[in-house]
Amino acid sequence: MARFFRSSLLLTSFSAVLLAFTSWNTFGVSALSSGEDVIERDLCIIGGGSAGTYSAIRMRDQGKSVVVVEKKGRMGGHTETFTDPATGLTTDAGVIVFHNLTIATDYFARFNIPLTTRNVSMNAQYIDLRTGESVPYTPQDPTEAFAAYAAQLAKYPFLDTGFNLPDPVPEELLIPFRDFAAKYNLGPIMGTIWSISQGIGDLLSQPTLYVMKVFGKDILRSIQVGFLTTKNHDNSELYEKATAELGDDVLLNSHVIYTSREGAGVEVEVETPLGRKLIRAKKLLIAIPPKIENLQGFDLDETEREIFEQFSNNAYYTLVLKGSNIPPAVNNARADLPYLLPKLPDVYTVEKSEIPNYYHVKYGSPYEVSDEQVKQTVLTEVARLQDLESQHKGHDELEIAFYSNHSPTFLAFSPSAIADGFYDRLNGLQGHLNTFYTGATFETLDSTLIWRFTETILPRIFDER
Ligand SMILES: Cc1cc2nc3c(=O)[nH]c(=O)nc-3n(C[C@H](O)[C@H](O)[C@H](O)COP(=O)(O)OP(=O)(O)OC[C@H]3O[C@@H](n4cnc5c(N)ncnc54)[C@H](O)[C@@H]3O)c2cc1C
Ligand SMILES: *[C@@H]1O[C@H](CO)[C@@H](O)[C@H](O)[C@H]1NC(C)=O
Ligand SMILES: *[C@@H]1O[C@H](CO)[C@@H](O)[C@H](O)[C@H]1NC(C)=O
Repeated sequence: MARFFRSSLLLTSFSAVLLAFTSWNTFGVSALSSGEDVIERDLCIIGGGSAGTYSAIRMRDQGKSVVVVEKKGRMGGHTETFTDPATGLTTDAGVIVFHNLTIATDYFARFNIPLTTRNVSMNAQYIDLRTGESVPYTPQDPTEAFAAYAAQLAKYPFLDTGFNLPDPVPEELLIPFRDFAAKYNLGPIMGTIWSISQGIGDLLSQPTLYVMKVFGKDILRSIQVGFLTTKNHDNSELYEKATAELGDDVLLNSHVIYTSREGAGVEVEVETPLGRKLIRAKKLLIAIPPKIENLQGFDLDETEREIFEQFSNNAYYTLVLKGSNIPPAVNNARADLPYLLPKLPDVYTVEKSEIPNYYHVKYGSPYEVSDEQVKQTVLTEVARLQDLESQHKGHDELEIAFYSNHSPTFLAFSPSAIADGFYDRLNGLQGHLNTFYTGATFETLDSTLIWRFTETILPRIFDER
């Protein structure tokens, strides 16, 4: 009885809250619905990073009206560029390379941004950054290992775009990459795989599926023919030009507070620096990492919630340091661990940038760590490098010129969730409740391939069949 009483009380107060929310919202909406605070568009896009910006430009080019909701003060997402205040020189501190595929070259050409070749550097020193000790490393001929890897990759052509996995999911795609690498003798190329797939965190524990996605056919090709980057080392120019072109169709510093997707279209209420706006659109395109925490305000149903709750994520941090007496390229290494790979959380690499006296540092972690911890570790470890470089005459001043926390970086399902068909369920959300999805979670950590994947989603959005 007492229990019943309590729960009915709970129910009552819950419905009261719900009622209050609904009436508040109705009020809010009607207050907004006359005049400039209502934005009517064909498509509302959440997130103005790689996938969201591309989608906005492409849909506008196809005659659709769009509005983009971006929480930060700029578009570009993981694409970030550092500008040296003294010289105005730029260097990319987030997304660096693209594939030489027409989808990328056409996109940059559309904004008149010149590209150049950029190759993965293989000439780093191997140093244990915890101690400053150099780690003996002898490069091995990678030819056979590349061939063995490519042969395995060729068995799974469905990995080329998206996650269209067969049922059952092939066993080998679910084993930790550690086991896969041992089975196919990938030792000679593990350093290369590690440097390309940094964003996925603990490489050896990841299911092979995710390594094959991030280190796939197009990467193998680009290693041979060369990657692309912008000639000015300013990948953000793409996003600045896109932002200018989109004009009022982008709401920066804005976030969703409420959505309703049950009707013929969608309603999205957004908090912007100019107050609340109500977006009425035919469809919604979500181009942000779909973690539950990141979808607050969205009217998620049980189906969506169950899928998004399964995602785990890792973390990735990038810095630009100003300093001298730093070796040009260092891979953090551990003589006592397989393939000399460092144990995360820790620094991945230290590498000189295109700007004299500025160095890029990448830091990875299987889980989110504090900005303070990242900065402290980086400063300590790089100061140790300076000590070495100056033959222990001490280290020069080090300054963090740029810092960025890219978490959550990479959203992943557990191997058992993958085996249980969670990617089928995720794909099944395309179109559900007038909502579509794109971005790294649906493809991999690769802008060019995300644009290519996005091209498979955009035609479905207004396809009325
Ligand atoms: C440091 C780093 C380096 C990388 N280097 C490369 C590289 O060299 N080449 C490559 O191809 N790929 C690289 N990647 C992979 C990169 O993740 C993808 O290329 C691409 O940026 C992912 O695109 P996206 O649109 O899914 O996400 P993002 O580009 O991150 O865009 C998501 C956008 O949504 C916004 N957002 C998030 N949550 C919300 C919210 N609740 N409401 C509103 N807006 C929100 C974010 O602010 C962001 O602008 C790198 C990734 C990192 C982290
Ligand atoms: C991209 O590849 C084409 C050949 O397909 C080549 O002509 C072009 O020079 C490459 N682009 C760059 C910037 O290297
Ligand atoms: C990168 O590699 C390609 C193919 O080997 C080569 O043509 C190109 O000149 C290289 N570019 C740079 C900047 O080293």
